[in-house]
Amino acid sequence: MNEFIQRLKSLIGEKSWHRYKRVYALSMIASLLETLSIAAIFPLVNFIGKGEVPFKLSVIPLTPETLIAGILSIYIFGLCLRAVSVYCTSRVNMQEGYGFSARIFELYLKQPYDWHFSNHTADIKAAILNDAQDFISFVMVPLGRFISQTTLVFFVGLVLVFIQPLATFFFCAILGLSYLLIFRILKVFLKSDSEKQIQAHAERHRYSSEALAANREIKLSGLENIFSQKFMNASLKLAKASSQRSLYTEMPKLVLEAFIFILLIVTLFYISSRNEGQLATITPTLTLFAAAGLKLFPMGHLMFANFANLRSGLPLIDKFEALMSQFTVSEAIEVAPILANELRVEDVSYTYPGNTVQVLNHVSFSAKLGDRVAIVGPTGSGKSTLIDIIAGLIQPCSGCVSVDDHPLSATNSISWQKQLQYCPQNPVLFDQTVTQNIALSDDGNISEVKAAASLACVDDLLGTYLDQLSVGETGKKLSGGQVQRISIARAMYNDVSLYILDEPTGNLDAKTADRIIGNIFAAKSSAIIIIVTHDLKLAEKCDIQINLENNSNK
Ligand SMILES: Nc1ncnc2c1ncn2[C@@H]1O[C@H](COP(=O)(O)OP(=O)(O)OP(=O)(O)O)[C@@H](O)[C@H]1O
Ligand SMILES: [Mg+2]
Repeated sequence: MNEFIQRLKSLIGEKSWHRYKRVYALSMIASLLETLSIAAIFPLVNFIGKGEVPFKLSVIPLTPETLIAGILSIYIFGLCLRAVSVYCTSRVNMQEGYGFSARIFELYLKQPYDWHFSNHTADIKAAILNDAQDFISFVMVPLGRFISQTTLVFFVGLVLVFIQPLATFFFCAILGLSYLLIFRILKVFLKSDSEKQIQAHAERHRYSSEALAANREIKLSGLENIFSQKFMNASLKLAKASSQRSLYTEMPKLVLEAFIFILLIVTLFYISSRNEGQLATITPTLTLFAAAGLKLFPMGHLMFANFANLRSGLPLIDKFEALMSQFTVSEAIEVAPILANELRVEDVSYTYPGNTVQVLNHVSFSAKLGDRVAIVGPTGSGKSTLIDIIAGLIQPCSGCVSVDDHPLSATNSISWQKQLQYCPQNPVLFDQTVTQNIALSDDGNISEVKAAASLACVDDLLGTYLDQLSVGETGKKLSGGQVQRISIARAMYNDVSLYILDEPTGNLDAKTADRIIGNIFAAKSSAIIIIVTHDLKLAEKCDIQINLENNSNK
């Protein structure tokens, strides 16, 4: 148990664990008060029936009325405390549940760029949107309930042991052993259903996001039925696993209820057949057992259900532990050197993780402020990989990129990225207006947005009806050329000393492309501009050409 608690603590963090400890303690106190009100029934029945005074009080005269009022007060106070504890627990569970998924989301976003090469976004979405919430519902919630119910059952059991040790022992032993037996049988099924549930969540995310992103391809290739069938199969798998899980937690209740009912009838029959007068004398004990049973049977069942849920939540703990161990804490805390004169790529080689083919082989060049650098080469020759290395998104396997003789590294990449602007080969717009997309903010400087838009020849969109609406998911309400020009404008919005443009004019007509390149070269005359291009005429206009086909430069 201690190891289990330690695992939970390190997953949710010390602060959250302390919040849970407080609500668990509150529910234990509420359980204690409920036990007191149950225990008080025995002396009450004796007092009313036989006139036996349970204890003496000098301040309040002890009458059946004051005793009943006392018991009721404890009972009602216990119930109020239970209500407060239920509210606090559910608040903590909600906050921690959503907080936990938000923390995982933040950690995902802060992982290095190459971390995402080996992780499918559907698995990431399933973990943030389903598994994190399930972790709270199937681990933290049942743990709290289990603790509170165990406290109640323990104290009520103590009262019963005090009154009737043998019967209580017999009763608890049978009940405990039955639950243990049922749990041992069900535990394998609970684990396997939970694993199936985790897998089905990831499959549903994978099929839905792939199908929705490739909507056009799916329509044109007539793949609708195949994708909807795959999604349906994953959904059915999820439904089956969830319903089996509920069945496993509910089943023991029915079996044990039948068992207890039969046991009660047999006991009553046995007592009344042996001694007719005995039934009347054991009425207080029977009343106590009935009141305790009223609490104990549902509690026993709930304890089992929560324990079973906890057991079925173990694969989620395993999953998140594995995930956390993959996460790296960002080392990019150092300040990068300021690019004041020269950027140098020195003998850079690169192979993608898990690949054997070397993408870049000893690439070197240098550029001074004001230089225009063209990177050319056939498709797949490593042009985008090289600029990702220059931008500090990935680190070279050997060689280095240096700024005024100071090498860049993973430790100063975040600071380095503030000195550059990057226009990617396949730009993605946010579902906001054109202006917001250029400024990457809701309150961008309008005159600077206009200047950047004018450089990228996209100023015709500003102020039009297109700029009043959002551009649609990833910019799908716009043409490919419009998306590309907005992305160029986004890169031109801030003044920096290095601009990296990956095939920025690939979707544009030659005239517009020439205008945009001319504008950029004129406006950013003191910066280094690196352009990846297949356009040899554009490459010839540049001061430096790097050809990755035979790794040459002029
Ligand atoms: N994340 C990745 N994991 C593994 N291999 C990759 C990854 N990204 C790219 N590659 C491989 O690296 C090689 C170079 O890719 P890169 O995108 O740099 O080429 P490119 O010169 O920009 O091509 P294009 O002109 O088509 O854009 C390709 O063979 C590609 O398959
Ligand atoms: Mg490329």
